[in-house]
Amino acid sequence: MSGSAITPWVVGNWKMNPMRADAKQLVQELKQLLQNQNIEESKCHIGVAPVALALETVQTQFSDCSRAVSIFAQDLSRVAGTGAYTGEISAELLKDSKIEYVLIGHSERREIFGDSPAVINEKIKNALNAGLTVIYCVGESLAQRENGQAEHTVLQQICDIAAVVQSEQWSNIIMAYEPIWAIGTGKTASPEDAQAMHAKIREGLSQITPAGKGIAILYGGSVKPENAVELAACPDINGALVGGASLNAEAFYQIAQAFANTK
Ligand code: PGA
Repeated sequence: MSGSAITPWVVGNWKMNPMRADAKQLVQELKQLLQNQNIEESKCHIGVAPVALALETVQTQFSDCSRAVSIFAQDLSRVAGTGAYTGEISAELLKDSKIEYVLIGHSERREIFGDSPAVINEKIKNALNAGLTVIYCVGESLAQRENGQAEHTVLQQICDIAAVVQSEQWSNIIMAYEPIWAIGTGKTASPEDAQAMHAKIREGLSQITPAGKGIAILYGGSVKPENAVELAACPDINGALVGGASLNAEAFYQIAQAFANTK
């Protein structure tokens, strides 16, 4: 399987947004768009990552949608199971609520909440052991890019998790390359730079696991309808993790359409 034969994923990371009423409307609008002009499942997987509080509500709202929309948690506990861990949500609790997908290692978790590689590894291990599918986020800072450290940083982040992912679990990993300087800034990596990094990620993954050739590698960082088509045209970009633009149903739908039509 070459990078371009992988069914793309377009996932909306809603972050700490929106308020209840707006979330309800966002889902309604997205359902309507999908109903009017469906994007075939075989052409593009679609997912959204609401706040933990809204996971089950959004899941229920999408349950009568004309196509599958996967529901992602934005994070999970580094502790497994159940117990006296105030404020935490474990992989098992997510699974028990029929939430099958989770984001791990987002740069906001790493930078603002101090998720170290060790903590991220615990989260990855718990998620995979509970049978969840993970979007694992990697990406370099502006300083790392300017110092010529971008590739090294990203490949190191991949090597970090190799210690805890069992060989048969790589099929439950989706990668997201999100250069930190492009997140929420309006700046996107050029398609050439993004493709070059995605090709390096593919190479790095392929050295770790035979499954590497088939792992979807999403791009994230100011993806919008205006740049989605050229990003989608890159052979090793297998989808998008969309922040800001995913809060607008039409924009998010257009991004999914760009990947469905281009791949
Ligand atoms: P953005 O966020 O699209 O708003 O840049 C992407 C992300 O953080 O996943």
